[in-house]
Amino acid sequence: MSALHSPEGTDTAADSFLGAKRGRRGSTILNPRSYVKEELWKQAPVLTGSTKFEPLLDTKCILVTGGAGFIACWFVRHLVLTYPHYHVVSFDKLDHCATLNNTRILDSKRNFAFEQGDITSPTDVKRVLRKYKVDTIFHFAAQSHVDLSFGNSYEFTNTNVYGTHVLLERAREHGITRFIHISTDEVYGDVPIGAAELSETSILAPTNPYSASKAAAEMMVLAYRSSFKLPIITVRANNVYGPHQFPEKIIPKFIMLLQRQQKLLLHGDGSPTRRYLYAGDIVDALDTIFHNGDIGQIYNIASKDEISNIDICHRLLDVFGIPHQTPAELAQWMQHTEDRPFNDQRYATDGSKLTALGWQPKMSFDEGLKITVDWYRRFGEVWWGDISRVLTPFPVAHGNEIWTKEEHDDLPSSDGELVYDEDSASWTEQARERLQTSDRIV
Ligand SMILES: NC(=O)c1ccc[n+]([C@@H]2O[C@H](COP(=O)([O-])OP(=O)(O)OC[C@H]3O[C@@H](n4cnc5c(N)ncnc54)[C@H](O)[C@@H]3O)[C@@H](O)[C@H]2O)c1
Repeated sequence: MSALHSPEGTDTAADSFLGAKRGRRGSTILNPRSYVKEELWKQAPVLTGSTKFEPLLDTKCILVTGGAGFIACWFVRHLVLTYPHYHVVSFDKLDHCATLNNTRILDSKRNFAFEQGDITSPTDVKRVLRKYKVDTIFHFAAQSHVDLSFGNSYEFTNTNVYGTHVLLERAREHGITRFIHISTDEVYGDVPIGAAELSETSILAPTNPYSASKAAAEMMVLAYRSSFKLPIITVRANNVYGPHQFPEKIIPKFIMLLQRQQKLLLHGDGSPTRRYLYAGDIVDALDTIFHNGDIGQIYNIASKDEISNIDICHRLLDVFGIPHQTPAELAQWMQHTEDRPFNDQRYATDGSKLTALGWQPKMSFDEGLKITVDWYRRFGEVWWGDISRVLTPFPVAHGNEIWTKEEHDDLPSSDGELVYDEDSASWTEQARERLQTSDRIV
């Protein structure tokens, strides 16, 4: 069964997006270099954080990896527009979730440059560090989507662990004054309901290939701090939401489904919770840590807005003004699908160390959600190109090519076998059953 309603339906997107392409074998190829039409792009609000500190005198050029992706594009816009003193270089491979629309507003700025490059390439990294005489690195680039990490885990280890290693090694050789490594609350693993919030000294206990790769990257960071005294700060953030997030993650994906009048397809029972930070708030937190934080420290960036996946459905239906009080009304708009192979129930981190530096989130979840819905209603259909396949329950992405799960299962693999084979499917099914009947991993 395919939940793809309009596989041919690039109509709206293609009309307003220059260069959207259909794949050769029933797939979509996204083109992160394509710009939306000028008249539309000019209507987009310029979104940044709100903090401003005295510029650091030992900082002239900041390299931001993953700068065409979600969180880093907010940070790049903030740095370029708030601190003309800093030269900011966005360095990005331009994967499926990236788009140059995210930083297009900066193209005419003298203190901004974009360089396409891959953090897993020592040559690319060396070239950009030398070309711009970089002194500071903010490292965001990653494979960031947990769902994709169950099917494509080598790519997660390669980008998140090896890529971080390459950056650290090149940073060591080049000599830098600050390296800020962006990590996640997921490295701590599941936090049972009622358990105390975890501080920066808690042990790391990741449970999925994504979080394991982020924890492994942190081990490399720790080693470079100890062995080479590299001036590193690590941050571990809760879930982030807001405009500019590629619609593979739950909030923008569900907004776009409702916008298309399609059902919300909820993994499992929808009970897992996540704590949510608005993008502008994480930018302010990173700005605060950059200007006031101490080298060698780890900082949690923590929110108190803990929301379950099913609650996100209800809140979005509210914002869209869709009745959902009765079971019949709800069933029209929400449907449960199979769950991820394993899904942490919740994460809960203690942010008091960062609070002591003077940061607090400013945006309430309800207000942030309204701003986000408004942005996606205006720009979501055109910002990345044709996102129809992205909106299916378990899309598969390789580079810039996207398939529905069903389309991908039908593809021959490189050795001529079908990608999906009965043996591995039944093994996966057994593993899933074992997981569901066993006690949770501690
Ligand atoms: N989104 C969240 O809720 C969240 C929460 C906590 C931490 N984080 C972390 O923040 C960082 C950014 O997350 P995001 O959600 O903005 O991600 P994203 O997926 O929107 O962006 C990632 C960017 O990295 C780029 N990239 C991927 N591989 C690359 C490579 N090999 N070389 C160069 N660039 C490459 C992509 O093209 C993309 O632009 C990640 O490190 C993620 O682990 C995210």
